[in-house]
Amino acid sequence: MSYVYVENLVKKYGDLTAVDHISFTVEKGEIFGLLGPNGAGKSTTLNVITTLTDFNKGEVIINGLDIRKDKSQIKQIIGMVPQDIAIYNHLSAYENVKFFASLYGLRGSRLRKNVLEALEFVGLSDKIKEKPKNMSGGMRRRLNIACGIAHDPRLIVLDEPTVGVDTQSREHILNSIRQLRDRGATVIYTSHYMQEVEEICDRIAIIDKGKMIALGTERELVSMVTDVKSIYVETRIPAGFDREAFCKKLKLMPGVKAVKAEDAVIRVDVSIEQNGTERIIQEFLNHRLPIDNIKSEVPNLDTLFLTLTGRELR
Ligand SMILES: Nc1ncnc2c1ncn2[C@@H]1O[C@H](COP(=O)(O)OP(=O)(O)OP(=O)(O)O)[C@@H](O)[C@H]1O
Ligand SMILES: [Mg+2]
Repeated sequence: MSYVYVENLVKKYGDLTAVDHISFTVEKGEIFGLLGPNGAGKSTTLNVITTLTDFNKGEVIINGLDIRKDKSQIKQIIGMVPQDIAIYNHLSAYENVKFFASLYGLRGSRLRKNVLEALEFVGLSDKIKEKPKNMSGGMRRRLNIACGIAHDPRLIVLDEPTVGVDTQSREHILNSIRQLRDRGATVIYTSHYMQEVEEICDRIAIIDKGKMIALGTERELVSMVTDVKSIYVETRIPAGFDREAFCKKLKLMPGVKAVKAEDAVIRVDVSIEQNGTERIIQEFLNHRLPIDNIKSEVPNLDTLFLTLTGRELR
């Protein structure tokens, strides 16, 4: 059975259905992403899974435990990193992590060891005595993560952990999440940044207005849009060169779906599977056609979101 099983989950706030019949499973050792714009229902879904919010309808089973019946047991295996940073400003970094880890019953030397490890893990070993008010936003985000993982949770739930951090902190956070997975944890990750989700998630659910609109690996999702990429080659066609014959020849190459010539630019649509870019460039060179510029366009999750909803992800 899947590690996390969510079936037809419904959560209402008054008249608003924040989560509208969402179903998904997360396998053990997977990084599962929830991607969606503001208000999609990502945090609400996570709050249900982490037992912070009740729900109106549906089933949630985690590690074989029913969330309606075994709340306290489920709490023990989950680590939550909330979207709004939840740390105490009057406590040092060390005391913050210690406080949260001790809520899970860690004591004595194990507590001390785990706290130091969690701080090292997020790259804050040299800040253990620092209070959050003297830290940068990125450091506070990282401390927030340390507080959520110090008790060695088997299921780690991260709600937009990289909002407002610089590229370096962001990379550090993403690498840490990969390491947690490699150590055997199962991870649920939310973001409205497409690139991040593409970068670290094994599978992705795209949600919008409380509904799940697509689910799969990045490749599966993108192939819903098209399995083709467009390569635009800007060249200079010498006098007397038979452009039409050249285009016909390109068209016959493996994986090539379409060839279109417009002024100096020849556009070749080629199957992503066949990855024919190099062969196409070689063909230009074989015909002594100079390559002044080359651009390729691959469909991405934004393209998919646009196709499914008519709106951009961000
Ligand atoms: N406590 C609440 N009371 C009433 N409405 C709420 C509450 N929490 C969330 N909502 C509403 O539920 C919907 C989903 O909100 P949610 O926070 O789950 O979205 P999100 O995908 O996490 O968005 P964001 O990217 O902005 O964090 C929104 O319309 C929001 O206004
Ligand atoms: Mg949210």
